[in-house]
Amino acid sequence: MRKVVLVTGASSGIGLALCKRLLAEDDVLHLCLACRNMSKAEAVQADLLTSHPTAEVTIVQVDVSNLQSVFRASKELKQRFQRLDYVYLNAGIMPNPQLNIRALLSGVFSRKVVHVFSTAEGLLTQEDKVTADGLQEVFATNVFGHFILFRELESLLCHSDHPSRLIWTSSRNAKKSNFTLEDFQHSKGHEPYSSSKYATDLLSVALNRNFNHQGLYSSVVCPGTVLTNLTYGILPPFVWTLLVPFIWLFRFFANAFTLTSYNGTEALVWLFHQKPESLNPLTKYMSATTGFGNNYVIHQKMDLDEDSAEKFYQSLLELEKHVKTTVQKPDN
Ligand SMILES: NC(=O)c1ccc[n+]([C@@H]2O[C@H](COP(=O)([O-])OP(=O)(O)OC[C@H]3O[C@@H](n4cnc5c(N)ncnc54)[C@H](OP(=O)(O)O)[C@@H]3O)[C@@H](O)[C@H]2O)c1
Repeated sequence: MRKVVLVTGASSGIGLALCKRLLAEDDVLHLCLACRNMSKAEAVQADLLTSHPTAEVTIVQVDVSNLQSVFRASKELKQRFQRLDYVYLNAGIMPNPQLNIRALLSGVFSRKVVHVFSTAEGLLTQEDKVTADGLQEVFATNVFGHFILFRELESLLCHSDHPSRLIWTSSRNAKKSNFTLEDFQHSKGHEPYSSSKYATDLLSVALNRNFNHQGLYSSVVCPGTVLTNLTYGILPPFVWTLLVPFIWLFRFFANAFTLTSYNGTEALVWLFHQKPESLNPLTKYMSATTGFGNNYVIHQKMDLDEDSAEKFYQSLLELEKHVKTTVQKPDN
């Protein structure tokens, strides 16, 4: 039977590279591209089917920042599929990033230079806004829309005789110091991206605790620093091009500069092959590239505790209850 893999944000960057690599591993997959932009998705579908004619590649339209769209897409997926083997929760945004030049310069001359550049800790702030559903946009896109997608698809994912997998694209930029349970949407801070990725890590831990016994396993990955539309929002492409020779040298000291989307998907593809029972729920799997350009996967213990993860999960359930009273769900 074909394995069924759903990928959000499959239209560009890491999601697109992931689709190509998964089909290179298994060319009879059923790959479902979950994208907000249909014309981009159709171009990707045509391209993937040309290179892998034995695969099945379908599309579901979803804007993960819009709850009505998530409910509609979930309904469609439940009509189309009996089960999903893998769901890559990869779509994400970092809107209006601002580089903190002072932090950048002090990072260059500090002893923590490798850490600062590998994680972008303290280097980036973003301007968030509120969505039509009344949620902070970064949280809605990177976390909550995906959480609701999972909740709506539980019946396709939770089968104790047949494990299913959730694989979240998190980041090395996920920092405990940027997240609070009291303001988990990060409406008061200036680093909503970091907060949302820390929230993803917490959620994954809680999902394992609550759903492993039903055959659902969740993991988080960091792709490293990859040149995509997201990073081109931080610095324009020509500046990255000028920096690339320095980054190649820097790779001898810091393994996080994966640079290409292909390299960045190393951990995502590695997880595709692992037995979920063998994975540690408290570990983040991170793509890495050596100075000589070889890819590998780093296992890093996450800076979090299971108690906070459970509290955050309960808060999301509360928020889910609330939005279901305000957002119109399509009839099942
Ligand atoms: N690049 C990096 O260095 C880096 C590092 C760490 C983590 N990440 C994470 O990697 C993931 C992929 O990012 P990327 O670097 O590949 O950036 P990207 O090229 O901008 O890709 C982002 C993808 O998410 C989709 N997307 C954004 N908002 C969406 C929405 N509301 N609904 C549905 N789809 C939406 C985009 O669709 P459109 O094509 O329609 O815009 C695109 O397919 C993100 O979660 C990001 O946070 C990236």
